Amino acid sequence: MSRVVTLKLNDQDMSGQEDETILDVARDHNVAIPTLCQVSGLSSVGACRLCLVEVTGVSKLLPACTTFVTEGMEVFTDSERLRKYRRMTVEMLFAEGNHICSICVENGHCELQNLAISMGIDHIRLPYFYPKRSVDASHQRFALDSNRCILCTRCVRVCDEIEGAHTWDVMGRGIQSRVITDMNQPWGDSETCTSCGKCVQTCPTGALFEKGKAVGEMSKRYAFLSYLAQMREGRK
Ligand code: SF4
Ligand code: SF4
Ligand code: FES
Repeated sequence: MSRVVTLKLNDQDMSGQEDETILDVARDHNVAIPTLCQVSGLSSVGACRLCLVEVTGVSKLLPACTTFVTEGMEVFTDSERLRKYRRMTVEMLFAEGNHICSICVENGHCELQNLAISMGIDHIRLPYFYPKRSVDASHQRFALDSNRCILCTRCVRVCDEIEGAHTWDVMGRGIQSRVITDMNQPWGDSETCTSCGKCVQTCPTGALFEKGKAVGEMSKRYAFLSYLAQMREGRK
């Protein structure tokens, strides 16, 4: 049985369970922390670094989604330093892909776009990479536009942890990293894909989308993930 711990979040006394992360406790107390890779119902991997917070006594910033709360911890979720890092992280995501929101199927529903708007980002201060990336439209119902992929690995985790198909994976290193299906075959040739569409619904951007859907129809729905996870744990 997990123990109750007390901590300070933005100078407010709070309590949480020792198996909860800073993000869990913050959400329980309606304290907003920006996230992109984390989704309730899937494992947390700390990929996007948007949820970084300051913890007293720790010189580096820590990801709230993978850092567990401890007794007496003092956490700050909003500061000039954090706003600077978060803005830079979002700008880097835009600079390293090819995001043209006005012609994107996810325009108006995209979590990356929404984050940029909430941070007041109206231009990118970094040089654009303009990488040459592919589009895989070989699947009968879905498509992957790698130009809009931010490598959050939500698709990889939902396919593995919820659907159990493990069709998606990440190939390559650094700037060359990209998501692939099976052994880097076209998605339409995949023998493991069940065409359930969970990856499409869980993708935070327009990288994965359903063919034939108009912009207004492409809002993603993944609330079912935390429900499935709770049912598996035997909780209501
Ligand atoms: S994925 Fe989001 S940020 Fe990228 S082009 Fe589409 S709407 Fe814009
Ligand atoms: S395809 Fe979508 S869900 Fe998968 S890693 Fe890229 S952005 Fe994330
Ligand atoms: S939400 Fe914590 S690192 Fe992405």
